[in-house]
Amino acid sequence: MTNTDKILVLDFGSQYTQLIARRIRENRVYSEIFPFNVPFKKIMDFNPKGIILSGGPSSVYDKKAPIPDIRIFDLGIPVLGICYGMQLMAHLLGGRVAKAQKREFGRAELIIDDNSDLFKGIGQVARSKRQDTKGSSSLLTSHFSPFTVVWMSHGDRIERKPAGFTSIAHTENSPIAAMANKKRHFYALQFHPEVVHTDKGKEIIRNFIFSICGCRPKWTMKSFIETEKEEIRERVGNQRVVCGISGGVDSSVTAVLVHAAIGDALTCIFVDNGLLREGEARKVENMLRKNFHMKIRCVDASERFLRKLKGVKDPERKRKIIGNEFIRVFEEEAMKIKEVGFLAQGTLYPDVIESVSFKGPSATIKSHHNVGGLLKKMKLKLIEPLRELFKDEVRVLGHELGMQDEIINRHPFPGPGLAIRCISDITRQRLDILRKADTIVLDEIKKAGLYVKLWQAFAVLLPVKSVGVMGDERTYDNVIAIRAVTSVDGMTADWAQIPYEVLGRISNRIINEVKGVNRVVYDISSKPPSTIEWE
Ligand code: XMP
Repeated sequence: MTNTDKILVLDFGSQYTQLIARRIRENRVYSEIFPFNVPFKKIMDFNPKGIILSGGPSSVYDKKAPIPDIRIFDLGIPVLGICYGMQLMAHLLGGRVAKAQKREFGRAELIIDDNSDLFKGIGQVARSKRQDTKGSSSLLTSHFSPFTVVWMSHGDRIERKPAGFTSIAHTENSPIAAMANKKRHFYALQFHPEVVHTDKGKEIIRNFIFSICGCRPKWTMKSFIETEKEEIRERVGNQRVVCGISGGVDSSVTAVLVHAAIGDALTCIFVDNGLLREGEARKVENMLRKNFHMKIRCVDASERFLRKLKGVKDPERKRKIIGNEFIRVFEEEAMKIKEVGFLAQGTLYPDVIESVSFKGPSATIKSHHNVGGLLKKMKLKLIEPLRELFKDEVRVLGHELGMQDEIINRHPFPGPGLAIRCISDITRQRLDILRKADTIVLDEIKKAGLYVKLWQAFAVLLPVKSVGVMGDERTYDNVIAIRAVTSVDGMTADWAQIPYEVLGRISNRIINEVKGVNRVVYDISSKPPSTIEWE
């Protein structure tokens, strides 16, 4: 990302660090998160127009307090410290930080004392006009309307400002809730402008990146696509690339982007493990083949997977078997392609941020799929063109690349697929029942216009049978549970309040149309303490 103005976020472990980067990118300015102890040279190479120091759980006086390279203050670029970042600035630039007598968590009223660039348009001098008798208006009074609600979360506070700083805002409990050294363009906030609870947070961030750092809003998906395509072409040269397609958003968008860069030098491999939803395999294959004219090798490996899963009831064993088998099938198929030098995969930004949250800077980077062995054996290098993007940015990218909304707005689907929704034993017959019921759930959810409002909706086949009566006969058949949740990131979730009529239609249709099911129940548990999946 060379031709665009950039803001660097140094991470000190705050749960909100990612949010800071997102807020900046929403303004079409590129931003990356580096761990606080990144080598100084990397910061210089990144060449940011400004630096933001994130919050964090530490106190600057902790023995193990995360401290950045102090030369960041000599780069001649603006710096904004947030919460711990503010205390760090005070500490490193000659001020004093101490435990606050009253810790401040949650909502607070900020009183702006100085109309600096950072607060431009917020709590400005409000001008009242009064008509005079001749009808012309004149400026009569000026008064300050300085209140705005902010989100606090701190135990320490600034006792003495560093030289050159002035206080620019206060709250009831924090005499210095914001401070600035306007000459050096250093700003610091005790509150979090990146969270939605801070009323004018977006404006404050905009003021920092545009008015103070002078960034231009040039980072668009179009420019991203062009830069990425060029980089992929340059790296790949005359070699070939393989890409595993799972049916999910990330791998499909990766494939379409790489294909846009190198065309037929990309071969996609789609492993049908027999655990996909109804028609899923065909839908993705058709989209990539027909709309994008890609080379795809489809491997029907369902027999293999089902054989390995026979009699396996334990969810974690199911996961292991499926993961290992996938690697094996993929490897066999990839070996058949000549001159492959690269493996493309859909790793996203949240997977690669070296977050220092709670674990220290050596926190492990999640490996997206277990492809280490494959890379070694075939001597492949990785291409991860989405590794700078957040999930919603990937959707925008897919849209920009001309992919159908139906594919890019898909609900997440777990790697082990229906295996962990077919509770206990997995057989072809049980999978068929589940697949039919699942299709009805999704169909009715979509018809009711609820699909886009939900994080996930699906059917689960339970390992119990219950008594029913159909016509004049008693039945002893399967039970289907419906699961539908709302969530922002899958970490926590609420059960969705689906209207009774929709639930009624789903239940009627499943019992009438799916042979072997005589009862449908709705799961009304939230996460935590439950999980989204049943296994
Ligand atoms: P839970 O059930 O833990 O799920 O609340 C959270 C999110 O993760 C998905 N999930 C998985 N995804 N492999 C995956 O790729 C898995 O083994 C797996 N287990 C759960 C789940 O669908 C939900 O979106």
